[in-house]
Amino acid sequence: MKILIVGGGGREHALAWKVAQSNSVDMVYVAPGNAGTLNEKKITNIEINAEDIDALKKFAEKEAIELTIIGPEVPLVAGIVDQFQEAGLCCFGPTRAASMLEGSKSFCKDFLKKFHIPTAEYEIFTEVDSAINYIKSRTMPVVIKADGLAAGKGVVIAHSEDEAIKTINDMLSGNKFGNAGHRIVIEEFLEGEEVSYIVISDGKNVLPLATSQDHKARDDGDIGPNTGGMGAYSPAPVADSVIQQRILEEIILPTIKGMQSEGRTYTGFLYAGVMVTDDGVPKVLEFNCRFGDPETQPIMMRLKTDLVSLCLATFDDTLNECHIDWDERPAVGVVLASSGYPLSASKGDIINGLDSNFPSHTKAFHAGTSMMDGKIVTAGGRVLCITALGNTVGEAKKNAYDAISGINYNGMFFRNDIGYRAIQRES
Ligand code: AMP
Ligand code: GLY
Repeated sequence: MKILIVGGGGREHALAWKVAQSNSVDMVYVAPGNAGTLNEKKITNIEINAEDIDALKKFAEKEAIELTIIGPEVPLVAGIVDQFQEAGLCCFGPTRAASMLEGSKSFCKDFLKKFHIPTAEYEIFTEVDSAINYIKSRTMPVVIKADGLAAGKGVVIAHSEDEAIKTINDMLSGNKFGNAGHRIVIEEFLEGEEVSYIVISDGKNVLPLATSQDHKARDDGDIGPNTGGMGAYSPAPVADSVIQQRILEEIILPTIKGMQSEGRTYTGFLYAGVMVTDDGVPKVLEFNCRFGDPETQPIMMRLKTDLVSLCLATFDDTLNECHIDWDERPAVGVVLASSGYPLSASKGDIINGLDSNFPSHTKAFHAGTSMMDGKIVTAGGRVLCITALGNTVGEAKKNAYDAISGINYNGMFFRNDIGYRAIQRES
């Protein structure tokens, strides 16, 4: 069977690497992929941008691709699944209507309210004056979110009224986030610990994957600007079996049922960013209509079941018969970034140390990398995600950082404390 993976980040390298391990798979194409996917067995990069839906569809038709898996949110929100379906192609992911859970934060919040799914209190605004009046009635901090897709940068936690007012002006009357920011959600700040809870859905049934936790802030100790994610580990002990059951029953299942009743049947990966509040209540921070990056990397390291069979089960109505096997060992993934990230990304720096043989418990997943004159060079903000298994989170972390000590490039930086919350619990 031939598979197409759409995207070129660390998530897509991990998905392609896992899919290529399936006995039923002859070739995995990645569009556009990176230097990591280029150098894997049974994986071929194709030079098509992840947002060029027409070209992707033509490629899938010409190559008789039997399953396409979409990595990033932009093509999903633009309707790639609908277009593939119209062409009779099997495409794993939510339709454009279902992707609105991520594509519009105001849609998502109104949906959650309608179906009584726990989330932070909020109001939606398009006018500066009414947004500022609302701020004046709230205690700080408040969370201000651009409605549309903003590549992980559209959320501001405002600690003072002045900061809140500046953010409102930047989004609603300025053009900081373009159209995505011309409608905003202002919501209550929730305190607690976050967990990424990702499931596979066929529209009616869901199959939960292992839990994980991302580290969104750039610097050690969770300070500095938010990024797409500086590292992640799986499983996340904050979500014990009781919390996991509550997330499933109080968040995921009502969402799948609610989306079906709204005529927006949800299929594909559904990622709930959940805050487990200090009093132990799971509340939705956001939904993503795709797998997480970098959560995919540690989760794929632990997945023993054939990912292709799980995706295909959503098309032939057999998802409720599927069972997933996990490596019991935790996995930790540490992102190596390039200088300037998340504001900018330096490119073209030669990466040394990737040709050494890592132990079998460690894998270097590539993100922003490409080949130049036969050498692997940086090509984006997040460059690599070094991911390792270990008998404890502490050991997995040590394995990952041991591998990192042999890698270097100009401007390389990373966090030193990935997994710290789980490690604190271990000691
Ligand atoms: P989002 O893209 O909505 O998940 O927001 C990005 C990050 O901002 C989340 O992962 C949280 O760390 C933080 N965040 C978002 N909403 C809230 C909230 N209501 N309370 C506290 N932190 C939040
Ligand atoms: N790691 C956060 C995300 O994928 O949105």
